[in-house]
Amino acid sequence: MPKISKLAVLTSGGDAPGMNPCIRSVVRTAIYNGLDVTGIRRGYQGLIDGDMYQMETRSVSNILNLGGTILKTARCLAFRTDEGMELAYQNIKKHQIDAMVVIGGDGTFTGALRFSQKYPDVAVIGVPGTIDNDLYGSTYTVGFDTATNTVIQAIDKIRDTADAHDRLFFIEVMGRDSGAIALRAGISCGAEAILLPEKETAIDDLIENLKNGQRKKKSSSIVIVAEGDKHGGAYDIAKIVEKEVKNYDIKVTILGHLQRGGSPSAFDRVLGSRLGFAAVNALIAGESQKMVGLEANHIKLTGLEEALTQHQFKLEEDLMQMAEILSI
Ligand code: F6P
Repeated sequence: MPKISKLAVLTSGGDAPGMNPCIRSVVRTAIYNGLDVTGIRRGYQGLIDGDMYQMETRSVSNILNLGGTILKTARCLAFRTDEGMELAYQNIKKHQIDAMVVIGGDGTFTGALRFSQKYPDVAVIGVPGTIDNDLYGSTYTVGFDTATNTVIQAIDKIRDTADAHDRLFFIEVMGRDSGAIALRAGISCGAEAILLPEKETAIDDLIENLKNGQRKKKSSSIVIVAEGDKHGGAYDIAKIVEKEVKNYDIKVTILGHLQRGGSPSAFDRVLGSRLGFAAVNALIAGESQKMVGLEANHIKLTGLEEALTQHQFKLEEDLMQMAEILSI
């Protein structure tokens, strides 16, 4: 088992609330175990540019409550090239780093896997940090819980005004190809319909459902549209529906990037801390090319390749059915 002495940590891709508690956990667990820790700024871009600094116990004081990431993040195209990876490797060698914890989503893990296959002398462990909740091997990703709570607070407010004006709202939420946020938010807010990428909804059925609501004298209706839905965005769907559903004032809200910000929930602070702790312990135990996740409340290691190839959010059909029944 190769012994590690210097570990680097970075956040990459879209930020997610809970990344800071995770960074704090990585730094302090590493220091507790006698390792040196280097923080890389702006993800893989910082690795290529050599933008890094030594982290101490106090470098991560009072960050548990902060959204975003103190290390900053980026989507780095250069890291997809052989030249970019070589520059990153040279910086790693120059700073005598022998292991990395990368916190991010599927793009981050794709980079980490390619890099560690090319340069296997640098051990890499991934922590799932994305609001999309779409990585195989962890029931929850860091940031999903906070983002969903942010979404439901916004939708509750929209419900107030929708109800006051007897309006129909189409609300678009993030998640890329994943309907995880849309489904949880739809159940939590009693949405009349939830449109997800994982399940094609016939537009005719949606129209019938909304007309039914009108017949039953529903004062307002809310349709949640996951951004990856096959019919297009909330504006496209609203345009189709308004031709058929009369006497309903239709409005569209795109929640956008506010979903990624804000102080992490207790759940995400604990999840980030647990996964950061587990990532460092996995590296000390000699693991590499794995993702740490949480399943049935236990830490689990999954190969990065497996986490990526099966990475889609698995739609819980029973939850979808329940949401439909409860919104009659
Ligand atoms: O992966 C997180 C995420 O917020 C997705 O839900 C969304 O599709 C994407 O990132 C937006 O990315 P960007 O902030 O780069 O526009």
